[in-house]
Amino acid sequence: MSSDAAGRILEMLRNQAGRLSGTEISRKLGISRSAIWKHIRSLRGAGYQITAKHATGYQLIAVPTHLTTWEIQAGLGTERLGIKIHTFSQVDSTNMVAFRLALNGAHEGEVVIAESQAAGKGRMGRHWESPHGVNIYLSIILRPLFPPNKMSMITLMTAIACAEAVEEVTGLLPSIKWPNDLLIGEKKMGGILTEADMEMDRINFVIVGIGINVNMPHSSFPPSIRDTATSLREAPDTEISRIALIQALLRKFELWYQRLGQGWGDAVKGRWEEISQIRGKEVEIVFMGETVKGQALEIDADGALLVQEPGGEVKRIVAGDVHVRG
Ligand code: BTN
Repeated sequence: MSSDAAGRILEMLRNQAGRLSGTEISRKLGISRSAIWKHIRSLRGAGYQITAKHATGYQLIAVPTHLTTWEIQAGLGTERLGIKIHTFSQVDSTNMVAFRLALNGAHEGEVVIAESQAAGKGRMGRHWESPHGVNIYLSIILRPLFPPNKMSMITLMTAIACAEAVEEVTGLLPSIKWPNDLLIGEKKMGGILTEADMEMDRINFVIVGIGINVNMPHSSFPPSIRDTATSLREAPDTEISRIALIQALLRKFELWYQRLGQGWGDAVKGRWEEISQIRGKEVEIVFMGETVKGQALEIDADGALLVQEPGGEVKRIVAGDVHVRG
């Protein structure tokens, strides 16, 4: 539920079939008629269509199609995650905005969302294609109490939360490619970039950045990734509600993050292995010019991938790009 007055007025309007009088709002919220009018104006400014009639009051006619904090928080139902959501039309990168907020003391569970990114960041210094108004670019600020060697587990649980949220909203369960690619079929439709501010033995904060291609048409992908990337809309060929997907994602994320905090690392590992189906597959991993080939065994307790080379030696892989062979 929204904690600000404009959000509470919006909620009252949503729950009202017809018109709602200023007197009623004023009585329920304990604010003046002129304060109500000020909030109605700011809601209109944010794209809400609200009619006002002197004698009968206010009525909500239409909500904006762009992402607003109020739309995301309506019926969200999380305990901490997304209690504060910062929404923007354009940013450099939501991860960078979240990082700056965290340096200035932002709390665990604050979320940054943008309609577009001018400098969207992918893993390993890559660029993340971030066109306006069609996808999800979202970063979550965390202040976990566990040690730095468990960082990878956050990325793994985020991938689970994303996959389950997509399934809840579209009926399609994406697969996960280690460590953080979300795939529909063979094509990538989402990715996770986890960044942290940490010392040797403690994590100050973590920024979990999530990019999901939702309604992006195939023609909008640059030619360089057109054969390897996709969006959710392409699979069932229907427009998908970004609001519903963000809400499902925040709920799933909170659930899995709580589990991780309660020491359920094994559950995260198990669910990740189930969705990724990587166990036993022949893989090739490239990292900083080095290639490791072998059979994927499992994820270890810290989220690293264990790969057995043909000679029998088991390598522990903590970063890189995985190609599943055959
Ligand atoms: C990857 O390379 O697969 C990771 C992509 C992560 C993209 C998201 S979009 C929201 C957040 N902000 C960024 O600049 N990057 C992440």
